[in-house]
Amino acid sequence: MSATSELRFPEGFVWGAATAAYQIEGAVHDDGRGPSIWDTFSRTPGKVFQGHTGDVACDHYHRYADDVALMAELGLGAYRFSVAWPRIQPDGTGPINPRGLDFYDRLTDALLDQGVDPIVTLYHWDLPQALQDRGGWTNRDTAEHLADYAVAVHRRLGDRVRTWTTLNEPWCSAYLGYGNGVHAPGEREAGAAFAAVHHLLLGHGLAARALRAAGAPTLGITLNPADVQPADPASAADVAAARLVDGLHNRIFLDPLTGAGYPDDVLAHLGRLVEPTFIRDGDEKLIAAPIDLLGVNYYAPTYVAGRPDAAGGGGAYPGTEGVVEFLPPTGPLTDMGWMIEATGLTRLLERIARDYPGLPMLITENGGAFPDKPGADGPDGLGQVMDTDRIAYLDGHLRAAHQAIARGVDLRGYLVWSLLDNFEWAEGYRKRFGIVHVDYLTQRRTPKSSARWYQEVISRNGL
Ligand code: NOJ
Repeated sequence: MSATSELRFPEGFVWGAATAAYQIEGAVHDDGRGPSIWDTFSRTPGKVFQGHTGDVACDHYHRYADDVALMAELGLGAYRFSVAWPRIQPDGTGPINPRGLDFYDRLTDALLDQGVDPIVTLYHWDLPQALQDRGGWTNRDTAEHLADYAVAVHRRLGDRVRTWTTLNEPWCSAYLGYGNGVHAPGEREAGAAFAAVHHLLLGHGLAARALRAAGAPTLGITLNPADVQPADPASAADVAAARLVDGLHNRIFLDPLTGAGYPDDVLAHLGRLVEPTFIRDGDEKLIAAPIDLLGVNYYAPTYVAGRPDAAGGGGAYPGTEGVVEFLPPTGPLTDMGWMIEATGLTRLLERIARDYPGLPMLITENGGAFPDKPGADGPDGLGQVMDTDRIAYLDGHLRAAHQAIARGVDLRGYLVWSLLDNFEWAEGYRKRFGIVHVDYLTQRRTPKSSARWYQEVISRNGL
């Protein structure tokens, strides 16, 4: 690495890392936490790799102080974590469990003590099971409950936390949770998936309005917008397929969030599959509650072709069979089997900036899973993890982000996914995204080469 930075990020650019409650905390029975849909789902045979659960995970609930010290050592300016709703309201509604809030209170103080800015995600997929028993996100009431829960968390942390995001990747909650059943609660029904999309958006709007009224200074939502590309840009069928996927993945969220309401083509597609009675007058206005920040999670591009015999995207993209062929990823892949294409990030950021102007963005997740193995040289046989593939991935994506900034995109920061190896949902612990290795037998944390590399990037504010 040269002594002077070749690429500098703007002054004040936020550097950090992200995690989520169920993926790292463990302690699922501690201090009055109630069950979530992921406790139920992970205990359902065949749903998660080898029956892994979040019962212990990285034991972060008990080790948070050490983890925060590690963040400080790495020089992180910000840390994005999620609050577990079932810790705060074990039944999803009603009485607040102060012991659940105590944990996030301690965590927030520890972060601020070390100069790490807390960024809170209110909902990262762990819906209280009691709410799922009443229909979960297919039930409109869940949106109201989210807003109540958001206010309760803000009441406790609002004096110290400045940045609040409501939902993480509602596309996954809706389409993977209720469309193709790969995630909790494991339902498979197009109508349920679209109802979930709408109620998640409504919940976001209600929560954003309530947080704003309570004085939250910076409000946002995190999406996983897709960089959807036609296999052949000169093929009208491929372009139409890309447009449909863009509608179902991106515009169905971004248009109503930014005040344009649901796009007509998306409503027409939806109307062919379900009776959208769940959309009521006035909802789009609520969903459009002003936000200050869009969180963008980016991992890989999506290439599609338009074919009459296309398999479509199943429950993840209802109604796309006979229209959209999702092309298998090519070139170098991560351990998730995801394509590595950093230019997709530049394209995506530029596209959002162009079509939804005036919305500052924060990369709330980016990173790669790789089959990391510690060398045998360290304590307990846990030596260095030379994850050069991850460094290359992160380096490429940071250059892509920088490119977007150079082209005028208002990008405020970058949070790597993830600080720690953790519970990768249906994949259990077999996929490792951390810049810090976790040995699940001993809970020993070992910063990988990528962590040291990232530390250097942060200290230079550049590459
Ligand atoms: C998106 C999710 O927000 C996060 O929970 C997940 O672990 C990463 N992407 C990697 O799949």
